[in-house]
Amino acid sequence: MDPHSLGVAHVSRESLEGYNPILRPFDTACAPMRSRTLDESRDEDSMSTEDDTRARSAERGDAGAPDAAAFDAGAPDAAALDAADPLAGHVSAFLPSDEVVSYLDGNSLGRPLAATADRFASFTRGAWGGRLIRAWDEEWFELPLVVGDRIGAIALGAAPGQTVVADSTTVLLYKMIRAAVDARPGRTEIVLEGDSFPTDRYVIEGIARECGLTVRQIAVDTAAGATLDQVRDAIGDSTAVVVLSHVSYRSGYLADLPGITAAVHDAGALVVWDLCHSVGVVPIELDACDVDIAVGCTYKYLNGGPGAPAFAYVARRLQGQLAQPIQGWMGAGDVFAMAADYRPATGMRRFISGTLRSSACCRCRTCST
Ligand SMILES: Cc1ncc(COP(=O)(O)O)c(C=O)c1O
Repeated sequence: MDPHSLGVAHVSRESLEGYNPILRPFDTACAPMRSRTLDESRDEDSMSTEDDTRARSAERGDAGAPDAAAFDAGAPDAAALDAADPLAGHVSAFLPSDEVVSYLDGNSLGRPLAATADRFASFTRGAWGGRLIRAWDEEWFELPLVVGDRIGAIALGAAPGQTVVADSTTVLLYKMIRAAVDARPGRTEIVLEGDSFPTDRYVIEGIARECGLTVRQIAVDTAAGATLDQVRDAIGDSTAVVVLSHVSYRSGYLADLPGITAAVHDAGALVVWDLCHSVGVVPIELDACDVDIAVGCTYKYLNGGPGAPAFAYVARRLQGQLAQPIQGWMGAGDVFAMAADYRPATGMRRFISGTLRSSACCRCRTCST
């Protein structure tokens, strides 16, 4: 993944504010992020349905429908909206496509930045082709942590030393949830929202089987997501870990991250946030909200490209308490000692298992200059 291609790198908090249809407005670092209540969602949905019906009926020229000319006159001017768009200046940063004029599927794969094409070429000829194995010592070895810190600063509200880039989201979810469960011995339940992304549910199901735990699913409205009250009702003395999506992949619902994190802590449990659909989209303040653990991907709204690695955040206060289950050589304290026994590194390096993915190597000095 090329951190220079982070889609949010040049987008200010203020620009994002006006853009998010759910989070309005975002006042301070850890202002209670406002979740839509179900009633509000329904009201908004029914309003938009009524608006749509009126518009469709106007198109058909139905009796009683607003006059089409009057409708047009009241409609916002698309060109004027484009001109006033705080993000308009960023369009040229992305590679154009002859076939795609408007791309609304960043939730599956973000568009490439124009700079990325050159950086891949320069990486292949420069660090990889020119420096070969020396590039590991010169730069690549530290990149999981360097790129992690960069993502932390740009998009997560995380101070350095708490974010690492590695693996896929699914693998990092497994590693983090498993580590969190082990850090709460004696507690028997993992809590998640019933409509969470399938990989989260499958990973949790597997961990529960491995560790002899029970999975408690919060039944949520699929047009919304888990509310603070629902989470409070679901957790207690037996809860080890709560796993939730910050933004729901299905509904776009924004969970109350600060409120839920505090409630989970009150119950003595740990919280793991899946940030796949919120990173690069809404302001995130993991440190200020005292989040324990978070995982997310970089190929959606961070525009890292297909196969770009995932990231994990672990609050500094917890790092020494978590033992991750995939003990690989790259997470060992002395990687090249080739020691008989595994001794984890300190800090975020201990959450790495194997060799860094090459797409993250484009951060190297050779390519960036
Ligand atoms: C919310 C969420 N969590 C987890 C994943 C799994 O990510 P990966 O396929 O990178 O492991 C996805 C993938 O789209 C997702 O949307």
